[in-house]
Amino acid sequence: MGASSSSSPPGSPATSRPACSPLQEGGAEPRASWQPHAKPGLDSKSGAQCWLPGKALQELAAKYPPVRLIQLDAVSLASVRAAVKEVESQLNGRGLNLLINNAAVNSYATLQSVQPEEMISVFTTNVVGPIQVAKEFLPLLKRAAEEAGKEELSCSKAAIINMSTKVGSIELCFNVLEIPMYPYRASKAALNMVTRCLAAELKDAGILCTAIHPGWVKTDMGTEKAPLTVECSVKGILSVLAGLSQATTGVFLDWEGKSLPW
Ligand SMILES: NC(=O)c1ccc[n+]([C@@H]2O[C@H](COP(=O)([O-])OP(=O)(O)OC[C@H]3O[C@@H](n4cnc5c(N)ncnc54)[C@H](OP(=O)(O)O)[C@@H]3O)[C@@H](O)[C@H]2O)c1
Repeated sequence: MGASSSSSPPGSPATSRPACSPLQEGGAEPRASWQPHAKPGLDSKSGAQCWLPGKALQELAAKYPPVRLIQLDAVSLASVRAAVKEVESQLNGRGLNLLINNAAVNSYATLQSVQPEEMISVFTTNVVGPIQVAKEFLPLLKRAAEEAGKEELSCSKAAIINMSTKVGSIELCFNVLEIPMYPYRASKAALNMVTRCLAAELKDAGILCTAIHPGWVKTDMGTEKAPLTVECSVKGILSVLAGLSQATTGVFLDWEGKSLPW
């Protein structure tokens, strides 16, 4: 697969590779079966159908008490608004510094097998979801930016991070026949445009916006075949986020801080 070749952009952190399994350059999410996007459960209080936090998140929150879990179905405006209210009440009048749009669904579909419903469903989660979440959380992000005053753009001031993927890069557009993911790739290319638009629009409000490719990672989406552990990818991403600034708002970086073409 074609590899991205550009060097780190100004302001990005040093890109020494964390000690972990080697990343196959150009590695992409492997084949995954088509899944319905809503994963309803039953809310224990109301009995209503809702999106329930996964087991791994629940374990994390039990282990680290500062972690608070708040339910959010990115495709439901009512759910996003309820989450904003909950976050606002937990912040006690302070602003929100960092919003990471991580939720997404994968989908394999060739030109022959792709269905309109699947395209729409993937776009709903991967594009409409992040815009909706960014839009609804904006007042809290603006509050954080105002609190920080004239400080330079950064993730500790106010930022939106959109989790993207290298296979959504229009310029790279590598291995279409080997990675036949029309819905997913197109949705992430659209998310990249959303990222650029948000970065341009929100810069003057003091809010940074950057797209990050996490690498090919061992998750449900990435599967066990992926070369990169979650820990390794997350370590790299945290180091990249810590180095983001005015110079890296509106750019597309990988988990090591290397610049990717849109
Ligand atoms: N893994 C990789 O190799 C790879 C490579 C490139 C980019 N990425 C990107 O990295 C991000 C994280 O991917 P991942 O590998 O962790 O994927 P994953 O294992 O499939 O997890 C995706 C998460 O998104 C959640 N989600 C899906 N639809 C949602 C909705 N409507 N509302 C709220 N949450 C929703 C899922 O919740 P449930 O657990 O409840 O289903 C799940 O926790 C994604 O944006 C993905 O596109 C991943």
